[in-house]
Amino acid sequence: MKITSVPQAAKTDAVVILATKKTDWKKLKVIHRNDINIITSNLKNDIKNFILQGGKVPVVIAIAEDKKEINKTNEAIRKAGNAVCGIANRYKIRTLTVTNESGIAGAHFPFTEGLAMSNYQFIKYRKDEKKTANTLREIKLLTKDSSKTEVTKLQTIIEAIYMVRDLVNEPVNHLNATQLAEAIKAAGVTAGYTTTIFNKKKIEELKMGGLLSVNQGSIDPPTFSIMEYNPANAVNKQPIVLVGKGVVYDTGGLSLKPTANSMDYMKCDMGGAATITGALYIAAKTGLPLHIIGLVPSTDNRLNGNAFAPGDIIDMYDGSTVEMLNSDAEGRMILADALAFAKQYKPELVIDVATLTGAAHRALGDFAIAYMGTADAQKKNQLEESGHEVYERLVGFPLWDEYGDLLKSDIADMKNVGGALAGHITAGKFLEKFTDYPWLHLDIAGIAFFQTNQGYKGKHASAFGVRLLFRFLEKLATTNNG
Ligand code: BES
Ligand code: MN
Ligand code: ZN
Repeated sequence: MKITSVPQAAKTDAVVILATKKTDWKKLKVIHRNDINIITSNLKNDIKNFILQGGKVPVVIAIAEDKKEINKTNEAIRKAGNAVCGIANRYKIRTLTVTNESGIAGAHFPFTEGLAMSNYQFIKYRKDEKKTANTLREIKLLTKDSSKTEVTKLQTIIEAIYMVRDLVNEPVNHLNATQLAEAIKAAGVTAGYTTTIFNKKKIEELKMGGLLSVNQGSIDPPTFSIMEYNPANAVNKQPIVLVGKGVVYDTGGLSLKPTANSMDYMKCDMGGAATITGALYIAAKTGLPLHIIGLVPSTDNRLNGNAFAPGDIIDMYDGSTVEMLNSDAEGRMILADALAFAKQYKPELVIDVATLTGAAHRALGDFAIAYMGTADAQKKNQLEESGHEVYERLVGFPLWDEYGDLLKSDIADMKNVGGALAGHITAGKFLEKFTDYPWLHLDIAGIAFFQTNQGYKGKHASAFGVRLLFRFLEKLATTNNG
């Protein structure tokens, strides 16, 4: 999707008018006077998004609802963008120029975001790709109310979201750990961050036992990718480190996933890796003045004769031992090594993002990220605030000692599972053991990949968390004083 800015709408392009019920329609020259009756009757019937075809070009009306609270208003406007996406493609429109007549300052930005996010498709494996493809290709904003920087930022955010969704939608037979690492590297070439990829030999030399144990059952080698974006004008002395779970497929291993369909979408288990890559992509491409490092441990979790077995004691990268009692709790095994690896950077903050537990999804459903961590209250507030702003909201959970007690092992330093209750918290407690710096853990299981259509968030890969992470990084860049 191309997002550009133009001084005025081209004579032949369809336009969107972002309006309110109080808009003075007669003043808008692009609307044919015969269409005014249609508007009045639609509004009476509470129809808020519709097309008018009486004039020289199609005019799409989108009523922006003022919800009295800016974040809720913006979210309603993103949803209007979703409705207009449907209309535009139904009428085979290629280009839309968005004009903001709503009186809500900047409303065209969330609108365009919702519209562009909705237009995403993953149909490259379909014979009828051309026929099924959306016609909408370009959204134009007016230069008078959109600066170049704002337009470029929005374009970059959309690029990142499409890339993240593509990566998550790609099945394991097209995206193994090596291919994921290559994709991460390729994104860096476009965006402007560097990537170092550790292969299996290097991972063995480093004794990353957590990652290697999960990889034992695989026929493909693991990878460990390190992204780095360090601009000359970085405001932070110590880097921000992002860690993403890169399990390219999760069968559960020998603790095989039980229910009929629980494995069907486990290609999404590298959602965390894709999310942090997306955030780094936006940061680097828009030149955010922040030193950021990204770490992605990656493998699939399968089973063969050599697969790690419940009861195994694993020597982790940090030198501790883990009694592995459930091979389906594999994410924490590979993240533990990455979190321990992050210590060498003496980071200001580490954020890990992972499709880690069904418990997190059960706790909050499709609408929020479960998070926890040891970072200070200011950082947690900034994170939650970012969540409300982009409407990828989070709910904080505690890291009380009692949850950690559930991980005690008789024969090793820790077990990798803590029992049936509060599984997202015991997973968090497990990870905490491998940190010695301010840390935040975001569990995106269930929301990285939706099985039903969630409006502009899409069906299947959602890229939920990408806009959140970038917004949070922006805040860190503006409030950081070294
Ligand atoms: N990848 C899964 C979590 C998941 C669930 C992701 C649903 C996406 C959608 C993770 O590796 C897992 O299997 N977690 C287990 C942990 C348990 C064995 C302690 C779970 O949540 O059941
Ligand atoms: Mn698992
Ligand atoms: Zn998993």
